[in-house]
Amino acid sequence: VSDGTADFRDRDPQWWRSGVLYQVWPRSFSDSDGDGRGDLRGVLQRLDHLADLGVDAVWLSPFYPSPFEDGGYDVADYCDVDPSFGTLGDFDDLVTAAHRRGLRVLVDLVANHTSREHRWFLESRSSRDSPLRSWYYWRPPRPGTVGGEPGAEPNDWESRFGGSAWEWDPATGEYYLHLYDVSQPDLNWANPDVRRAVRDVVRFWLDRGVDGFRMDVITKIDKTDGLPDVGLLPGQRWADASIHYLDRPRVHDYLKELRREVLDRHQPRPVTIGEAWAVPVDTARGYTDPAAGELDAVISFDHVLIDRTDDVADGAARFPRTLLDTVVRWQRGLGGVGWSAVYWGSHDQPRALSRFGDPDPRFRRDSAAALITVQMCLQGPVLLYQGEEIGMADPPHWSLDDLRDVAALRRYSLAVQDGGDPATVLARVGRAGRDNARTPMRWDDSPGAGFTTGTAWIRDSGDPPDVSVQAQRGVPGSVLEFVKRAIAFRHAEPALRDGAFDEVLPGHPTVFAFTRSLPDRQILVLAQWASEPVECTLPDPTWATATVALATTDDPARVGDDGTVVLRPWEALVLTRNVSD
Ligand code: NOJ
Ligand code: MG
Repeated sequence: VSDGTADFRDRDPQWWRSGVLYQVWPRSFSDSDGDGRGDLRGVLQRLDHLADLGVDAVWLSPFYPSPFEDGGYDVADYCDVDPSFGTLGDFDDLVTAAHRRGLRVLVDLVANHTSREHRWFLESRSSRDSPLRSWYYWRPPRPGTVGGEPGAEPNDWESRFGGSAWEWDPATGEYYLHLYDVSQPDLNWANPDVRRAVRDVVRFWLDRGVDGFRMDVITKIDKTDGLPDVGLLPGQRWADASIHYLDRPRVHDYLKELRREVLDRHQPRPVTIGEAWAVPVDTARGYTDPAAGELDAVISFDHVLIDRTDDVADGAARFPRTLLDTVVRWQRGLGGVGWSAVYWGSHDQPRALSRFGDPDPRFRRDSAAALITVQMCLQGPVLLYQGEEIGMADPPHWSLDDLRDVAALRRYSLAVQDGGDPATVLARVGRAGRDNARTPMRWDDSPGAGFTTGTAWIRDSGDPPDVSVQAQRGVPGSVLEFVKRAIAFRHAEPALRDGAFDEVLPGHPTVFAFTRSLPDRQILVLAQWASEPVECTLPDPTWATATVALATTDDPARVGDDGTVVLRPWEALVLTRNVSD
């Protein structure tokens, strides 16, 4: 805990490598004015909870003026606060209060696209001769077609949210590109004026004291020149055009430029964590190798894509070995050279507990604790999503009226238009959807769960009463108290920042076992990733004499002299030992 000055921010410029960053999705975190929507004053009032957890930083998802067509990731003004969230004054107070508690603040830079209500876009759209026309991607209809009619779209690219990535604008007789919702036109980063404007935005928030940025879909900011067709497979209407907008060469140039022109001139240098959809490990390493001067870390997706056949997801099925192998591949592939965030959930994913753990009352607490144990012992900045610290889960089901997310609603209507059975489609879309993570944070057992005194803008999670901060604070054995211990342990062990990662029981169907080692210190993590007990045998039986440093139960498993261990369902434990030669 800091002494109330900004100086803690000057210490340890690499803090983020082992840091725990708590993600706040402000609309669902804490509502200070009873309008049913979370706001910045609400976040401010809950900072003691975050300080008590022991996290290092808060990452705030967007709170900027926005029509909120994509949960605030459709920004209408990069340099202000939406009235529903408060004012710039509230933001300044929040930063001051966070810093006073030794918490850093990261904000979300959403610069691949703006909202269609941003004044840049309004200007760009006003006429073909607008000086800002080339700030976005405007294209005429395909030759020989009539604009606005099916088949006239400039190319065959699909939007991430389904359907064409092009929207017809009758006023100027051209289409604009939107890789996401129609309300989110893509900015043209090839235009140096756009990059200059983005740099001004970054400076604006640095001047207000922020400590870094999470950069939304930053690896999509370069598109193949000429925006060529992908080519449709038989039966396809739109093509996945990732090859034309993911990890294109100029992304690296643009990131370097931003570092050089703004970030490197700021002391201490702000941290940058870039969202990198479907990025391969080697590419991630390229972005985040400190020698490259691009990003500090990426947010990668391989491990949260394992149960999705497409973006609609086939649900929250659990594939422990696939998950664990994916994690291993990333830990190894970056090998302390590059950096990737360690996370199980976010505002875009179903709840980690429902998906990777087991929300059954018998296993819920222990599986939440097992997930946390592994997370806190992996290499890279940890992102803890609001509610994970108390073990929140997905609601049991979604009705159409309850859904709020534009992506889910769009998928639903496209699938039903295509002849899908509405109930089946709804079940799929609901289970896989982003609203699962956007139910209100549960603070206490009052009617609005302490989130609001009014009517919440979205349904509640339906979690049992003991899933709240108040019900768990100070209660031994609660998820919350365990998370605090796990975070403190992470902070106390340098081996968890820099130690080499080695897998111990490769291929074991359910046990995730790995070591983190420095020359003089070794840490062994064992976690049973299933709702049944298991016996396994460690190749190195000398762990039998190591110290139990963290365990999910009061009566942790012991390593026998022959290396055998019997783990209960979802039991996790961490052993430590010093090494001397
Ligand atoms: C990623 C964000 O996390 C998500 O919520 C949003 O829909 C897309 N980027 C588009 O901004
Ligand atoms: Mg409010």
